[in-house]
Amino acid sequence: MSNRLRVAVTDHNYPSLDLEKEILERENIELSERICRSEDDLIEHARDADGLMNLFFPVTRRVIEHLEKCRVISVYGTGTNQIDLQAASEKGILVVNVPDYCYDEVATHAVALILNIDRQITNYGLLVKEGDWAYMKLELHRFREKTVGILGLGAIGKSVAKKLSSFNVNLIGYDPYVSDETISSLGVGRRSLQDVFKESDFVTLHMPLTDETRALVSTELLALMKPTAYLINVSRGPVVDEKALLRALNESRIAGVAMDVLCREPPPADDEIVSHPKSWVTPHVAWYSEESFDELRTRVAQAAADVLRNRVPKFIVNKHLLKL
Ligand SMILES: NC(=O)c1ccc[n+]([C@@H]2O[C@H](COP(=O)([O-])OP(=O)(O)OC[C@H]3O[C@@H](n4cnc5c(N)ncnc54)[C@H](O)[C@@H]3O)[C@@H](O)[C@H]2O)c1
Repeated sequence: MSNRLRVAVTDHNYPSLDLEKEILERENIELSERICRSEDDLIEHARDADGLMNLFFPVTRRVIEHLEKCRVISVYGTGTNQIDLQAASEKGILVVNVPDYCYDEVATHAVALILNIDRQITNYGLLVKEGDWAYMKLELHRFREKTVGILGLGAIGKSVAKKLSSFNVNLIGYDPYVSDETISSLGVGRRSLQDVFKESDFVTLHMPLTDETRALVSTELLALMKPTAYLINVSRGPVVDEKALLRALNESRIAGVAMDVLCREPPPADDEIVSHPKSWVTPHVAWYSEESFDELRTRVAQAAADVLRNRVPKFIVNKHLLKL
């Protein structure tokens, strides 16, 4: 057996891991890939690895207890709910991630969904394809006289605010964890959660999925929206109570919804929100561009190599648990 350092990939769904291999090879680290199907399979693959790279497969306490010399678990993307952070921390394993590789793509996607609805691009395009030169058939209103409400003013919400500010729309927002100074520096008027729903022509969601935000967009909040207003969700599906949303759409309580994320992904063939005439759904691609994809893969491998070569990686998820 080689005595080079070894990083084991727990799972992936990419055509190849050549990019990751190249990064690790430069640091004289071996990469061994497997698409693990069970806890035992992962334990067998990872037992003597120096590091792990992980996409979705659960890295449980039992797996972690079997790791003999692992120093780092490097996670593709932001979410680390598939990793037992407590168990990793107890063993002194750093969990590192790449939370910021795609904020510009996601913000652009949200703005694109808003503009597509506002200018009825898809609907006019479909009419023209059907042979209908649909001159003034769909009613349009001046975008700059509208209000966009942003929920969650972190990296993505802030970028949405900056991009939309060039359209001179009225921006309002809600984020209980962001200071007044930050919010006003973005040109966003601070509102209560309820007032964002009441006043906005578009409500766009950019908060994480937590116990506090699960099903936050409820019947009560949807009932506050104007019947001409739209909901935009590029955050996480379960932030919205989809049953309440479907009722709001069916009863024309809101004008429509555009979403990149759903409670069940991929959705079942008979998903009533996907097939609803007032919905526009994209397949969880807000994060994606060829460039963001390459950046993610490069940085996941680099973060693993950094830890194994005793450099401090940019993002450490369990810093607080490790008391570094
Ligand atoms: N569709 C995609 O492809 C895609 C890609 C990346 C991220 N995302 C989603 O976007 C979310 C936001 O990403 P980010 O990089 O801006 O994260 P971030 O951590 O920088 O910002 C999240 C913001 O939400 C705020 N927040 C937390 N709880 C809130 C609440 N109850 N109400 C209002 N605001 C609240 C936080 O204070 C923070 O400012 C991610 O958590 C992820 O779920 C989606």
